[in-house]
Amino acid sequence: MSSADLFQPLEFHHGKAMNNRLMLAPLTNQQSHADGLLSDEEHHWLAMRAAGGYGLVMTAAAHVQANGQGFPGQLGIFGDQHLPALTRLADDLRQKGALSAVQLHHAGYRAPANLVNDIVSPSGDADSGARALSLDEVYQLRDDFIAAALRAEQAGFDGVEVHGAHGYILSAFLSPELNRRDDEYGGTAENRARLLLEILDGIRQSCDPDFQLGVRLSPERFGQNLAEVVALTQSICATERVDYVDMSLWDVRKRPIDAAEDDSRLLLHHFTEIPRGKVRLGAAGKIMNGQTARWLLDQGCDFALLGRAAIIEHDFPQKLQNNVDHAAPALPVTSGHLTAQGVSPKFQSYLSGWPNFIQD
Ligand SMILES: Cc1cc2nc3c(=O)[nH]c(=O)nc-3n(C[C@H](O)[C@H](O)[C@H](O)COP(=O)(O)O)c2cc1C
Repeated sequence: MSSADLFQPLEFHHGKAMNNRLMLAPLTNQQSHADGLLSDEEHHWLAMRAAGGYGLVMTAAAHVQANGQGFPGQLGIFGDQHLPALTRLADDLRQKGALSAVQLHHAGYRAPANLVNDIVSPSGDADSGARALSLDEVYQLRDDFIAAALRAEQAGFDGVEVHGAHGYILSAFLSPELNRRDDEYGGTAENRARLLLEILDGIRQSCDPDFQLGVRLSPERFGQNLAEVVALTQSICATERVDYVDMSLWDVRKRPIDAAEDDSRLLLHHFTEIPRGKVRLGAAGKIMNGQTARWLLDQGCDFALLGRAAIIEHDFPQKLQNNVDHAAPALPVTSGHLTAQGVSPKFQSYLSGWPNFIQD
């Protein structure tokens, strides 16, 4: 694999090709207004990444219902009031040459009590105070994910990624631990996956044929079961339900938490070995230099998602194109460095809660 391969366009089953293999990972940045409206700071942060060469720029997790808010300053896409600022963003990202996607999210039981009065989840949860959704509310949640995708399309985005990871509501539905429902959305693995699949199918049927659809999954923690997430990914790929699967691994070189001693496969390999037809596969987790990005493609992925490297360097792709050995500066970095990279004081205040990010 040469670095040139990272800069080969990637065709999707639907919509336009990504002009390289480097996608901006969804990154919560807490820069939106309290009502979920995109702010100028958030627009600037994303537009800088499009100008810096990311093939696809994904927004932060954007909540599809008001009570799905997971963070202060979170981007919203739950009402038409969000459309004008999202439309300006989609226009700007397109002009700067990147594909664009909105990550669709509902925090579920992970919504903070100081932000959300009515915390909901597939089943009641004493720790978070979440109550179980009624069946009608599950249907409404499905319809609101689909309505949010239509809104993203109306705003001019190339696609959406459905957030089915990290314990948020759709991955809570997938989880045998967190989902204890006894209706058609609980019980068997098939029933627990029903909501996610109905949302994916509903988006595909409601949006234009060239609208791109991705899904983010995480195979560990938050009550996820690796074998079930592998089986779900197999089924999503076999039915070519999405254009891409984004595996959130946090470290692309890690082994599964419960790996058998005689199984040397990395967590990533459980997904790269799945036949995937026209579906593209990407992964995120500690891709901080050209060598790791190339290695990821060598392992069988189609593209790499960059999170922390993209925060530290708005133009990591351009730097990599000029120098195959380029590596993002090591963390921690200074506040001045982040400011120069378009990371506003609000975003920096959020990052200061991440270990070893900003130098004191
Ligand atoms: C500040 C920050 C915000 C994040 N926000 C989101 C988010 O909104 N949605 C999501 O799916 N993942 C989110 N993640 C996870 C990243 O998308 C990515 O998967 C993770 O950071 C691992 O990639 P990295 O090692 O390149 O940072 C976030 C990570 C960070 C560091």
